[in-house]
Amino acid sequence: MKIKKAIIPAAGLGTRVLPASKALPKEMLPIVDKPAIQYIVEEAVNAGITDILIITNRGKGVIEDHFDHSIELEKMLELKGKTDMLEEVIKPANLANIYYIRQKETRGLGDAVLRAKEFVGDEPFAVLYGDDVIVGEIPAIGELCETYEKYGKSVVGIKPVPDELVVKYCSLKVSEVADKLYDVSDMIEKPKLEEKFSNFSVLGRCVLDNSIFGILENTPLGAGNELQLTDAMKVLARKGKMMGIEFSGTRYDMGNKFGMLKANIEVGLNHPEIRDELREYLKDLAKKL
Ligand code: UTP
Repeated sequence: MKIKKAIIPAAGLGTRVLPASKALPKEMLPIVDKPAIQYIVEEAVNAGITDILIITNRGKGVIEDHFDHSIELEKMLELKGKTDMLEEVIKPANLANIYYIRQKETRGLGDAVLRAKEFVGDEPFAVLYGDDVIVGEIPAIGELCETYEKYGKSVVGIKPVPDELVVKYCSLKVSEVADKLYDVSDMIEKPKLEEKFSNFSVLGRCVLDNSIFGILENTPLGAGNELQLTDAMKVLARKGKMMGIEFSGTRYDMGNKFGMLKANIEVGLNHPEIRDELREYLKDLAKKL
């Protein structure tokens, strides 16, 4: 079955990037000239997804404004004949059918996903975490969708991460099926080091069977007293219904100060408008470090 629907949870508090995220949602923090969430929506669209539900909360209205027309701005750019810029300003409004729902209390990623139950209906769906930007030749979520379509099992996007991150993310029990493709038979959220299964963690992407909603409804609060998506996915994994794929792109954690900086530098080095200037600047700077 072709995956057509995606959800982007973007209702987190973003405490790791305060004070930048005090009045501006962290999902709107820019990478060079576009907000993080636009990269994520574009990735979904490039993978053939047509309908996207963004989970927001109070104070995240600017996300809706970004994916809407800005009539005044568009008129002004048209009048001035700035057609390239006009195209860039109009583009986000026409990317996909974008819907919004509010998560009224920040009760965890699992709770945010549960808000999408009506939107999803009886189809499988993609989840793209609102602060994880993945840059690559092919859309990472497309790699997961293809795996779902081929094997009929839920799929998580994974990469090996160092011990200091495994304890903050999650750890997966995996066995290799093919190059970069694994069966996932168990998972644990924020494990202690002695509890980890492997250094593979879920990094911001999954494609889930809609049975996840029933599981989430019966999952008790987990780490941090939040409803953890990992705890629900674990049930699918233990039933032999979960796979993991090492996606090919580079992932940037925009919910983290260093991740934000890395994203701007690396994407900047490939950006036609600034790459030469940035390269020279970095070379000069490196000499002084
Ligand atoms: P994070 O755990 O990275 O987000 O969730 P956070 O809670 O904002 O992080 P810190 O620790 O306070 O800095 C991953 C994604 O899930 C969303 C976040 O917006 C982020 O995109 N999320 C998280 C929700 O939508 N609702 C929640 O209750 C929690």
